[in-house]
Amino acid sequence: MLEKMADFFENRLDGYDKHMLTNIESADEFYPYTAKQLPTTENCHILDLGCGTGLELEEYFLLNPSARIMGIDLSQGMLSALKKKFSDKDITLVCCSYFDVPFGVCSFDSAVSVESLHHFTKEEKVPLYTKLHRALKDGGYFVLTDYFSLSDEEEQMHQQNLIALKAEQGIDDDAFYHYDTPLTVKHETEALMEAGFSSVLVLKNWGATYIIKAVK
Ligand SMILES: C[S@@+](CC[C@H](N)C(=O)[O-])C[C@H]1O[C@@H](n2cnc3c(N)ncnc32)[C@H](O)[C@@H]1O
Repeated sequence: MLEKMADFFENRLDGYDKHMLTNIESADEFYPYTAKQLPTTENCHILDLGCGTGLELEEYFLLNPSARIMGIDLSQGMLSALKKKFSDKDITLVCCSYFDVPFGVCSFDSAVSVESLHHFTKEEKVPLYTKLHRALKDGGYFVLTDYFSLSDEEEQMHQQNLIALKAEQGIDDDAFYHYDTPLTVKHETEALMEAGFSSVLVLKNWGATYIIKAVK
């Protein structure tokens, strides 16, 4: 049965960190690698889309303890777990969809998102990335770590499966349900370029998990 996005993560809060770090292939490498891409300047301002319990932030604070973070997530449970881990850090948490939260203009040095954006279509992402592009300072950049479809056929299959499941279960609202619909790297790149990013580079990959850097 499909579950609403926030419910899905609330229901899996127990053991979430252990699950990510032991069952997701190469997590021991991609969290530190992602953190290393973020700025090390003192007090820099970072936006984390779908921050969850803050696994990427754990690695990042080792490199830059003075960073100021705005973390957005749909799940209050995940955010409460994050808050407990980093009570001494400068973190603003927003329990909401990142599609709905205003990000401001030229507010952030950099942004990051890990394992959160593989649930959305290219059409949904272009306006989100446009808002993100506007929110970055000049020279700012977005580090996206996520898993991707390895072919157009795979991407279409995930999207068709979701449509079929929603029809079977009589779901006809526009709420986000948890079902993975990763884009291909090519389509993700197109979404970022359409949103105005000047360059989009693949930094590294482990199988289907890629780290992409999009520069304002
Ligand atoms: C697999 S977890 C990843 C969390 C964290 N970045 C990590 O790597 O451990 C995906 C997170 O994205 C959040 N999420 C999914 N869709 C979202 C949305 N539209 N707005 C805000 N958060 C969202 C979920 O609530 C969940 O906490």
